[in-house]
Amino acid sequence: MNAADQQENAGIFRRHLSYIAALFTLGSAIIHLALIPIRVQEYLLYGLFLGIIVLVQFGLVIALVLRPSRQLAVVGTLISLGLIVAIIAFQATALPLGPHPWQPVGFDDADSTGIGTGVFSTITLLLLAWHPMKQVKPSRSFNFSYIPTLIVTLILTFFGTASAINATPVGMNMSAPVPIGQTAIPMNSLHELPGNQPVRSFTLVAEPKKHNGHEMWTFNGTVPGPELRVTQGDRLRITLVNHLPTATSIHWHGVSLPNAEDGVAGVTQDAVSPGSSYTYEFVAKDPGTYLYHSHQDSYHQMLQGLVGALIVEPRTGTVADRDYAIVIHEAPGSSTNLWDTLGELVIGAPSNQVPAVNGTTGDLHLEAKPGERVRLRLIGAVQADMKVSSIPDMMHASPQELVVLGADYQVVALDGYDLNGPQVIGPERLRVGIGQRYDLSFTMPTSSVVRLVDISGQETVTIGAGPLPQIPDLRQLPVFDFANYGSPATDPITASGRFDVTYPVILGNHFGFRQGRLELVHTINDQDSPMGPQYLVRKGQFVRLHINNMTDEIHTMHLHGHHFSVLTHNGQPLRGSLVRLDSLLVEPHESWDVAFVADNPGLWMFHCHVLVHAEFGMSGMVVYQGVATPYEIGSRSGNKPE
Ligand code: C2O
Ligand code: CU
Repeated sequence: MNAADQQENAGIFRRHLSYIAALFTLGSAIIHLALIPIRVQEYLLYGLFLGIIVLVQFGLVIALVLRPSRQLAVVGTLISLGLIVAIIAFQATALPLGPHPWQPVGFDDADSTGIGTGVFSTITLLLLAWHPMKQVKPSRSFNFSYIPTLIVTLILTFFGTASAINATPVGMNMSAPVPIGQTAIPMNSLHELPGNQPVRSFTLVAEPKKHNGHEMWTFNGTVPGPELRVTQGDRLRITLVNHLPTATSIHWHGVSLPNAEDGVAGVTQDAVSPGSSYTYEFVAKDPGTYLYHSHQDSYHQMLQGLVGALIVEPRTGTVADRDYAIVIHEAPGSSTNLWDTLGELVIGAPSNQVPAVNGTTGDLHLEAKPGERVRLRLIGAVQADMKVSSIPDMMHASPQELVVLGADYQVVALDGYDLNGPQVIGPERLRVGIGQRYDLSFTMPTSSVVRLVDISGQETVTIGAGPLPQIPDLRQLPVFDFANYGSPATDPITASGRFDVTYPVILGNHFGFRQGRLELVHTINDQDSPMGPQYLVRKGQFVRLHINNMTDEIHTMHLHGHHFSVLTHNGQPLRGSLVRLDSLLVEPHESWDVAFVADNPGLWMFHCHVLVHAEFGMSGMVVYQGVATPYEIGSRSGNKPE
C-alpha cells in the first residue's frame, strides 16, 4: 500500500468516525426533542434551554456529515461534554432555576439515555479530534462498524424517546366534574366545623435520625412515631413540622374526616415544604385503631419510617385492663429507599428478616397480670417480603402473617370497626396487609406468657410472665377468615340490596413506559395514576365496587374517608359478622364486592396500599360530583401522593 492509499484509508476511517459521532448525537437530539413538550408545560425556560440544546445538536449532526474537520471535532467534543455536565448538574441539583430551585429533579430513563448517547458521541468526537484530519470527500461506502453503532443508537433512542413521551405529568388536577349550571365546591372549604369538643393538641416533627448507621425518617425521633391516643369525640389539633430535606404530609389512615384534613399531597393540600409546618384539625368521631403516615411520595417515605398509630378509645363501654397497639413495620436501619432495597435484593437478601415491632426487632415485652383482659391492636405497616430474595417476590406482596400463642382470643375489630358476636378462637394465621388493623382481645392465662410470632416462628412480642408456650407447626394452622367469623348483624347495605351505582375495579399489571421509566405498570381498569379511574359519586348514593384481581400479586385496596361493607367474596355472600373495612386484602385472582354510602363529600383516594404497586400506578379516586381542588399532582408542583 503506498502513501497515497494510506492517506485515503485514514481519510475514510475518519469519515466513518464522524458519521458515527453524528448518529450518536442525532439519537441524543431526538430524545431531547421528545422531552420538550413536557418541559415547556412544566416551566417555559426549561423548554427553551432544551430547545437550544436540540438546535446545537442538530447543527453538530449536519456539520459532522457535511464538513467534518479536526476543529469541528474539538468544538463538538467541548459542546457535548458541556451539555452532559449541564444536564447532570441540573437533574442532580435543579440549580437555582424554575419552580423548585435546588430540589433535585432526579433521572428518569429519558435523561439517562440522553446522557448515554451524549457520552458515546463525546467519545467518538474525542477520537476524531485526536487524529489529524484533512478535508475528505464524502464516502458512500457502507462500513460494518455502523451496525453496532446503529443498534446502540436505536436502543437508546427508543428507550429515551418512549420514556420522554411517557414522562411524569406536569400537572394533573383531580377535581370532579361540575354539572352545568352549578358552581364547584372547593374541597378546601370542607373543613371540620367549629365546636366545643375537648381539644387534644399534638406536634409531630418529621425529622431524619440516624439508626445503626442508616438514616431513618421519623416523627419526633422515633419509628414508629409517637402513639396518639385520644378519646372518641375529642377535637384533634395536630401540627406537622417538617425538618426533612424534602416535602411531606400526614394522612390519617382509616379515619372518616373532612376532606380538607385528609393529608394527600396534590389532592387535599400541597406537600409541606422543608422548614414549614401545617396543622390538621378534626373530631375523632369513630372509635378504633388507625394509623397515620406520610402521603407525599408515600412509598419511600413510609418505608423510611414516617408512620405511627392513632388510637381512638370509645367514650363509653368496657375497657380492657391493658390496651396495647403494635405497629408492624420494617426493622429500623434495614428499611431504606426503593433502589437501596432493590440493590439488597439483587445482591442477596439479609437472612435475619424480623418484623420490627414498635421500633424493636423482636423481643418486645409487654406487661400483663394473670386474669387481666388484654386488647392487642395489630397495625400492618409493611409487607412480609420486602426483603426476600427476588423482585418478583417483593412485587407479590405477601402480608405479614402473625400467630397468637398461649391464649385463646377474639378478633373484636377489623380496621377499627367492631365485629358482631366474635367467637373465641385458637391459634390461626392472621394475615395483616399493609394498612390493615386487627384488634384482638384475650384473658391472660394464670401462669404463662402470651406470645405473638410471625409465620417463620420469629418472636415479635411476649406478654406477661412465665414459661413460653410451644410453637406448633405454624404453616399447618388455618388462616383466619372474616367471611366465616362472628354472627350476622343488620346492615343497611346488603349484597341483595339496591345500589345507585356499581363500578368495576379491575386490578392488572403489564410492562410499559410510565413516568419516564420502563416498569411493571400497575393498573386499575387499565389506567394508571395519576390518570387512574375517577369513580364519580353523589352524596347519599349507595355505591358498590366490584373488585377483580387479574394479577398473581396480592393487593390491599384502601379507600380514604369511608368504610365499606364487604358483601361477597368470590361471589359468596359473607356468612359471619358484618364487616366494615377501609383496607381489603385481595389475593391473586380473587373477586370481592364491597359497598359504601357516599356520606363524606370530597376527593378521596382509592389505591393499593402495597405502596410499591401504588407507586407503579395502582391508584384511583372516588370523587363527589362538583367537588374541586386547587392543588395538582405532577412535576410542576412536586406533589406526588404515592
Ligand atoms: Cu394509608 Cu392513601 O393511604
Ligand atoms: Cu397492590
